[in-house]
Amino acid sequence: MKILSGIQPSGQLHIGNYFGMMQTMIGHMEQSELYVFIVDLHALTSVRQRDKLAAGTLEAAADFLALGLDPDKCQFWVQSDVPEVCELTWILSTLAPMGLIERCHAFKDKVAKGLEASHGLFSYPVLMAADILLYQADRVPVGRDQKQHLEVARDLAQKFNHEYGETFVVPEPAISDSTAVVPGLDGQKMSKSYGNTIPIFVSGKDLKKRVMAIATDATPVDDPKNPDTCTLYNIFKLFASPARLQEVRDLYLHGGAAYGYIKLELVELIEDYFAEARRKKAQFQADPGMLREILHKGAQKARAKATVTLDLVRDRVGLKY
Ligand code: ADP
Ligand code: TRP
Repeated sequence: MKILSGIQPSGQLHIGNYFGMMQTMIGHMEQSELYVFIVDLHALTSVRQRDKLAAGTLEAAADFLALGLDPDKCQFWVQSDVPEVCELTWILSTLAPMGLIERCHAFKDKVAKGLEASHGLFSYPVLMAADILLYQADRVPVGRDQKQHLEVARDLAQKFNHEYGETFVVPEPAISDSTAVVPGLDGQKMSKSYGNTIPIFVSGKDLKKRVMAIATDATPVDDPKNPDTCTLYNIFKLFASPARLQEVRDLYLHGGAAYGYIKLELVELIEDYFAEARRKKAQFQADPGMLREILHKGAQKARAKATVTLDLVRDRVGLKY
């Protein structure tokens, strides 16, 4: 079983990325053929500062490794180090119906948030399909926000197979329900581009500031509240033990849940949860040469797989003469 997923180096990785994707991927390392990559070409659709993109790429790599990804047990690389993906993107784009891509809501959402409506942003789902199909992935663990993009990848695989003969594996999305959408500080989806995140590696005062900023309503402490619609509770439940979560849930339901105290407890829980990873990240960041070496080796492994697929595709469509 080939499992693949990518993440954009467009800002500090946050707990939504962690629970929506990174944790799942790391968990698959032992049993599956795993493909994890940092999608810098996708990030170009929103990051225009050269240093931010380059540093963000290395930092995302340090994050994954610190959280436990073992590069010897998977393919771990930077998207642009395997240029074959761009050629496949073009080939797929000649098959991609305009209507299919126009229906993707991420483009409209991002433009509504102020991103420039570039052609790259529009065709983002085609590059993502190429990412997935190039490695013949069976399963793609992502947060719910990526479900529609997975459908585009499936549609393009099926269309290609129909037009040119069986070539691509049709990938399945893997969306875990418990963590499908981690809410941000404002209750919307937590996202680097919405400025509402709790970064994985923030700690001390900065962490406290973020957690204290989680939006809560004005219901008095002693009144019953609905935990399931409360942003604070939905973040708390990712970190609390089952027994503690049940206690807090009862306080919500029967009265007595004090948001301020729950926030302070959450700060401690997050500190502890990532303490070990925080130490490891500092070690990786102190050695960017080693990070680059790991990524370049990973790209070589990934590229060897990519060229096999691209060779077949070129032949299928008539680019081999
Ligand atoms: P962002 O929206 O912060 O830019 P990305 O688009 O780079 O994040 O997403 C990387 C991965 O993390 C994807 O699999 C995405 O579905 C997942 N993800 C991002 N935000 C969340 C969230 N709030 N809840 C769950 N998963 C998320
Ligand atoms: N579009 C994804 C996101 O924003 C990132 C991504 C790019 C990806 N290529 C991928 C995810 C391939 C899974 C598989 O989160």
